[in-house]
Amino acid sequence: MNIKKHVTRGLWNHLMKSGVEMGLASIIYEVGVASKYVNHAMRTGDLGLAGTSNLYGEDQLALDVLADEIIKDRLDHTGRVSRIISEEQSEIIIFDRQGRAGGYSVCYDPLDGSSLVDVNLAVGTIVAIYAGDNPLQSGRHQVGALYVVYGPRTTLVYGAGDGVHEFTLNSLGEYVLTRGYITVKGSGKIFCPGGVRRDYLPEHEKFVQQLEQDAYKLRYSGGFVPDINQILLKGGGLFMYPGTTSAKQGKLRLPFELNPMAYLMEAAGGAATDGRRPILDLDCYDLDQRSPVYIGSRDEVERAVKFFAGDI
Ligand code: F6P
Repeated sequence: MNIKKHVTRGLWNHLMKSGVEMGLASIIYEVGVASKYVNHAMRTGDLGLAGTSNLYGEDQLALDVLADEIIKDRLDHTGRVSRIISEEQSEIIIFDRQGRAGGYSVCYDPLDGSSLVDVNLAVGTIVAIYAGDNPLQSGRHQVGALYVVYGPRTTLVYGAGDGVHEFTLNSLGEYVLTRGYITVKGSGKIFCPGGVRRDYLPEHEKFVQQLEQDAYKLRYSGGFVPDINQILLKGGGLFMYPGTTSAKQGKLRLPFELNPMAYLMEAAGGAATDGRRPILDLDCYDLDQRSPVYIGSRDEVERAVKFFAGDI
C-alpha cells in the first residue's frame, strides 16, 4: 500500500490543499467526525437500551435525535459556529462565542430519511453553511455544503467553492478521496419522482408521462440523500418532489434539504428549480419552509421550467 498517497488524500489535507478557509474547513471536517459516531450508532444499534447509556451517556434516544446531539456538539466544538438550525429543533440555537466575530451559521438535517434505517435502506446527513450570524438566507449565499450517505459504504460529499468531491470512510476511520471534481452531464437517463401520483397536479402528471415516454428509468429509494447521490455520481438524471393537490409546497424543506443539495448540484454543473425559479434564489425565512423541487441534469431541469411555463 502506498501510505503517502492515502495520507494526502484524506479529508483535512484535501480541505487545506483546496485553500478552504480554516473555519469553514473545520466545520466540514467536524461534521465528518460526527458522522463516524452516527454511523457507529446506526450500524451497531448502540443507542443505549432502557436503563443503560449510549455514546453520550444518556438514556436511549431515537437515532435522529442522537445524530442531532452528536452533530450539534461537534459544531460547537469547532468554535467557529455562531448559530445553527437543525431539522430536529424548532428554533435557532445560538452558540456563545464570547464576543468573537467572524463565525458561520449552519443548517442541517442530522438524519434525513431516518425511518428507512429500520428497513436497512440508505439514509444521510445534509449540511448547509453560511458566513455570519444568519442561518436563514437564500441558498445562493452558502459558502459550502455537504452530505453524508450511510449506505453499503459511508461516503461524504462536499463542495466549498472549488468543485464537488466524494470521500469514503475506510476501515481506519478516515475519509479518503474517492472521486474529485464530480460533474453532472447535461442530461441523464433516470428519474426519481416523489409524491403520490393520485395527488399530482395535471401539469406535473403530463411532465412525468413525457419522461416515461422518453424511456427514463424509475429510480426512487425514498431517501433524498441516496437519491441525489445517485444522480451526482451516475452523472445525470432528475429528482422531483412536486407540489401536489394535498401539499402545494411539496414535502422537502428548503433550509435543510433543498438549499444544500441545490448548491452541490449547481457546483457539479447541474441545476435545481422550484418549477419557475432556481432553488438557490428563493428567499428563505422559515425553518419549516418547503418548496417543490426539480433537481439534477441541466437539460431536464430547464425542460421542467419550460414545460411549466407552457413553452413546450
Ligand atoms: O424528507 C424526508 C424524506 O424521507 C426524504 O429523504 C425523501 O426524499 C422523502 O422524504 C420521501 O418522501 P415520500 O415518502 O413521500 O416519497
